[in-house]
Amino acid sequence: MKNETVKIFLGGDVFGPVGIRSVESLLPEFLSNEGIDFCVINGENASGGIGLSEEDAHRILAVGADVITGGNHTFEKRDYWPALSEIPQMLRPANFPEPVRNGDEPSPGRGYGVYEKNSVRYAVLNLQGREFMTPLDCPFRTAEGLVSQWNSEESPPIILIDFHAESPQEKEALGLMLAGRVSAVVGTHTHVQTADERILEDATAYITDLGMIGPVLSVIGADPKFAIKRNITQVLYRMELPECAGALRGIIVSVNPETRKALAVKRVEVLEK
Ligand SMILES: [Fe+2]
Ligand SMILES: [Fe+2]
Repeated sequence: MKNETVKIFLGGDVFGPVGIRSVESLLPEFLSNEGIDFCVINGENASGGIGLSEEDAHRILAVGADVITGGNHTFEKRDYWPALSEIPQMLRPANFPEPVRNGDEPSPGRGYGVYEKNSVRYAVLNLQGREFMTPLDCPFRTAEGLVSQWNSEESPPIILIDFHAESPQEKEALGLMLAGRVSAVVGTHTHVQTADERILEDATAYITDLGMIGPVLSVIGADPKFAIKRNITQVLYRMELPECAGALRGIIVSVNPETRKALAVKRVEVLEK
C-alpha cells in the first residue's frame, strides 16, 4: 500500500560556497520538518559559482538531495565532467546534441534517470532552453519522447522536469505542453524566484523559476560590487563571490503516487539566521 501523498522538494540553483553552506545548514531540518519524501536540487553553480565538482555533489547528496540537476554551466569546467558519468544522481540537460556519425562520442553524463525511493518511482528529466541560450536539440521534442515513453509503462513513474531556461515564454510553453501528463515542470537558471506557482490541468505543478539557493545580498549569486562594476564598465572582470547570509528556495509539491497528479504546490524561501 503506497502513501496517499508524497511530498517532493524541488530547489533552485545552488550558488557557490554560501549556497553549499545554506544547503548543509538548512536542508536537513527543512526536509524533516516538512516531511519531504524526495528532493531534487539544481547544482549547476555550486562549485565556485560555475559547475559542480564531484566533492560538492557528494556534499549536497549527503544532506538529503536525491538527484542533482544541471544546466548551461555543467560543462564549463572540464575537470568536473567525470563526475557526470560516475554519479547516477547527477544530471545534465538531456537535449545536448546526439552523436551524428558512427564512432562520435556522446556528451558526457546523462540527462534523466528513474529513481526508486520507499517503493515510489520518480523519473527526473533535466532540459535546457534555447531562447537566449546555445542551440541545443529541441527540448520540446526531447521531453515529448521521454514523457510518452514513461507514461506508456505499465506502472509509470512520477515525472519531474527541471527546465533550465532563460525565457519565461519557453518555460510556460513546455509546462503547458506537458500539463496533465507530468507531476511537475519547474524552471531554473535565472536565479530569481517567480511568484507564479500553480497547478496546471489539476495535475502538473509549475513555476517559471525556483529561485537560487545562495547568497541573499548578491546579484544572482555574485558580489554586488563586482556585478555593478561589470555593468558600468562593460569589462568582464572575474566574478567575485559574496560572504553573507544564504537562502534556500524552491517549491514543495504534494503528489498522489497512484494518479501521479500534483495536489498542491507551495513556494518556499528559508533564510539563514
Ligand atoms: Fe544557474
Ligand atoms: Fe544556468
